[in-house]
Amino acid sequence: MENRVIIGGQWGDEGKGKVVDALSEGVDWVIRYQGGANAGHTIYIGEDKHVLHLIPSGILRPGTKCLLGGGMVIDPWSLRDEILALEQRGVEVRPHLMISANAQMLLPYHQRLDELREERLKRQCIGTTGRGIGPAYLDKVQRTGLRMGDLRLPLENLERKCIEKVLSANELLSEFYQADPLPSRVLAGELVDLARFFAPMVVDPYTALRPVREGRESALFEGAQGTLLDIDHGTYPYVTSSNCTVGGVLTGTGLPPQVLGDINGIFKAYLTRVGNGPFPTELLGEQGEALREAGGEFGATTGRARRCGWFDLLGARYAVDINGMTGVVITKLDVLDGMPAVKVATAYDLDGETVEAFPVGSGRLSRCRPVYTEFPGWEKPTGDCRALTDLPAAARKYLEFLEDRLGTLIIGVSVGRRRDQVIWTPTGVTA
Ligand code: GDP
Ligand code: IMO
Ligand code: MG
Repeated sequence: MENRVIIGGQWGDEGKGKVVDALSEGVDWVIRYQGGANAGHTIYIGEDKHVLHLIPSGILRPGTKCLLGGGMVIDPWSLRDEILALEQRGVEVRPHLMISANAQMLLPYHQRLDELREERLKRQCIGTTGRGIGPAYLDKVQRTGLRMGDLRLPLENLERKCIEKVLSANELLSEFYQADPLPSRVLAGELVDLARFFAPMVVDPYTALRPVREGRESALFEGAQGTLLDIDHGTYPYVTSSNCTVGGVLTGTGLPPQVLGDINGIFKAYLTRVGNGPFPTELLGEQGEALREAGGEFGATTGRARRCGWFDLLGARYAVDINGMTGVVITKLDVLDGMPAVKVATAYDLDGETVEAFPVGSGRLSRCRPVYTEFPGWEKPTGDCRALTDLPAAARKYLEFLEDRLGTLIIGVSVGRRRDQVIWTPTGVTA
């Protein structure tokens, strides 16, 4: 079985969880490689809704091995809660879950610093998920963080290290932010308990992933966030703090590029964004509201209303190109059912000039005005369509246009939140 990377092609929430779930049958490993509990991946098994933040979506396929890769930032408190909540719902988690020793540990002060920093930035804030992601990656690059492998230290050493970290963070909290310090001894005591809980799950990724590296076992790599939120290639500074693009798979797992296999991008049939930053095709007012209602566009992690707008071909083509996507899946086509017309941005007007390549960096992007190509809408609901020929002609036209302009095959079209609501189109959507 060919390996596969699943990457968000937009600003996150494209339906990666749903697609990973649909594609993970028979796959040996599902691996997260970056990000943390800022992710919220929603999966419906029948009418049962699961929202996963840290645990790979493969956990819902019995027997699938799941790895939290070294490129992630992991809050052990949240991870334990997520494991226990799933187990309470009858999902077998611990026998299949592994955590790379290289992953950064996200501690409560990271979350506190994230909140305080955002408060201080006021209107210029990023609009983070408040999960401590930025401060945890900051500790990583300044080489002061703990790693999940530290949970295997003699417990008195772990306790001492945790106290040191919290005391040092407390200086920043009280001196710079005039905030209350965190209780270092209490947290260190809790971390010691967590170390006992996690010790059997922490693995050396070089050894654990040997069967994948040698091609004996198959892997699906589950991206979090999306290309336009990538720390290097996204709409900086309105981005997250990890590499959500394809390079993140390599650095976040330690596997070589030959192992990656297909690179599949996930795109909604329209566009959403949570948090701040430029969004040229954003629909304010009633039209945006209509998309938000139809698509249930409220954050899976924070519950925030997602900003909604039309599909942006410039951003999407950029995502296809920089990730080398070998195929894409279009999700939530059904959300456009009944819209009188569907629009796609095919160019921007930037200070009076026509721009056709996505302007990297958010400065220029915020001055771009979309130039739209408009398509007639369709009335017939698409949720029960299981073949391209079941789709209304206008919906097929829209997909064919996207496929042509993206320059890569649309290999699947999702028409509902359930596992079975996908039309697989391995040879594309164009007749
Ligand atoms: P992720 O972060 O990329 O995994 O996406 P989220 O789970 O945050 O958001 C996607 C939302 O859309 C979830 O509520 C999914 O249940 C839902 N969803 C996924 N695919 C489809 C689809 O094709 N149609 C509809 N109507 N909902 C979908
Ligand atoms: P999934 O995996 C959508 C956004 C936040 C904010 C910016 C930085 O579910 O697609 P952070 O907390 O990472 O420092 O926030 O990134 N963001 C997401 N938006 N989906 C996500 O994940 C996101 N993870 C982070 O809203 O704008
Ligand atoms: Mg999400």
